[in-house]
Amino acid sequence: MKDIFVKDVKEYIGQEVRLKGWVRNIRHSGKLLFIIFRDGTGELQSVAFKPDLGDEMFEAAKKLTLESSLIICGTPKTHQKIEGAFELSITKVDVVQYAEEYPISKKDHGPDFLLTNRHLWIRSSKQWAILQIRHTIYYAICEYLNNNNFYRFDSPILTPNACEGTTTLFDLDYFDEGKAYLSQSGQLYLETGIMSLGRVYDFGPVFRAERSKTRKHLTEFWMMDAEAAFVEHDENMEIQEGLIRYVIRTVLEKCLPELNILERDIEALRRADAPFKRMTHREAVDYLRARGSEIEHNGDLGAADEAMLTEGSDVPIFIEKWPKEIKAFYMKRDPENPELVLGNDLIAPEGFGEIIGGSQREDDHDVLLGRMIDEKMPIESYQWFLDLRKYGSVPHSGFGIGFERLITWMSGIRHIRETIPFPRMIYRIYP
Ligand code: 4AD
Ligand code: MG
Repeated sequence: MKDIFVKDVKEYIGQEVRLKGWVRNIRHSGKLLFIIFRDGTGELQSVAFKPDLGDEMFEAAKKLTLESSLIICGTPKTHQKIEGAFELSITKVDVVQYAEEYPISKKDHGPDFLLTNRHLWIRSSKQWAILQIRHTIYYAICEYLNNNNFYRFDSPILTPNACEGTTTLFDLDYFDEGKAYLSQSGQLYLETGIMSLGRVYDFGPVFRAERSKTRKHLTEFWMMDAEAAFVEHDENMEIQEGLIRYVIRTVLEKCLPELNILERDIEALRRADAPFKRMTHREAVDYLRARGSEIEHNGDLGAADEAMLTEGSDVPIFIEKWPKEIKAFYMKRDPENPELVLGNDLIAPEGFGEIIGGSQREDDHDVLLGRMIDEKMPIESYQWFLDLRKYGSVPHSGFGIGFERLITWMSGIRHIRETIPFPRMIYRIYP
């Protein structure tokens, strides 16, 4: 008999097949037993009829509890009532394990309880749907970059210096070498990579010792950094837009069932796949102040500001040309105004906030060194980074996507902690 996965049942209508998985739900009524079976690829309504199974097997199946593991044989058919759904007529049930009473039930559990039971919570259907979407976005990003001449270039996690300022660094003792730090972004290493490969990206965990307890912050999250030689500020934004719109289209194409489980407003996602808007930081501040925000002219955008900016906008908005004092040391000065840098944030609509930070990089050795001296940075540990500006320096740009922020937006859920298998937050490291 053929072993198959739930996602493939439609190809086996009328043929007896075998599936391996768990009990999502079970109920019986007289000679019938209804099992909602799941196997990781999807869920399948299954029905056992006592005379088909025989008394002994039927009684053993009746004792199945939530989350028990089992192997079932049966014949798939199209569902009589629900269009596009399938049903399995069970011919055999092999119990692998009867599960103990499952701690997560249908009743509402608080977030603390669920997070403490995260190792079990990931099996529930909404969490399953988010993890499926995470998987799809991951590959969509890699696919887009691979098809656009970006090579994968893995940056290190243990580093001798900071990428994004020293206030959010996790440090550790590194043998006889003194302090080492967990990477906040692979960007600086990617800048070395472009001089070898032209266009590169990394994709992995980064760390920020951020004391923020918001719905948008994790202390360990995944970032996709991309970097490209000979790309300037405008083209940098075009690449970001092309990539994000590709992700939207892929999610819509591959994840409709998951989006429905999450009750995502699918039309809002469809509308976001249109040309993105652009606004300078100055324009954004003027717009916000006119609507009552207290943001200063050289101020950073708060979550409420980001939400106000995208209110009424179907598409994400680039905020570009920022005051240099609120952006990182590596950003290139705007040739038209030395007080500004050629950086951009990308703000997602529907209140989801910043999902990308990017910029053109300072490629002039002396200007960069001057900026680092102004910021009192330890020049020795960045010597390698300065070297890039001595040996064939070129204009170049890049950006970093906050992977979980992007998943939060695509899934339409309101808390980032559900977008990563094991969230790390200021008050949580278990499990
Ligand atoms: O804007 P950020 O700090 O930019 C960088 O790190 C650049 N070096 C990236 C680059 O140019 N290669 O971080 C990038 C993105 C943010 O836009 C945000 O989406 C996400 O990372 N992010 C976080 N996500 C979850 N939790 C946190 N604590 C985050 N901090 C930033
Ligand atoms: Mg940022």
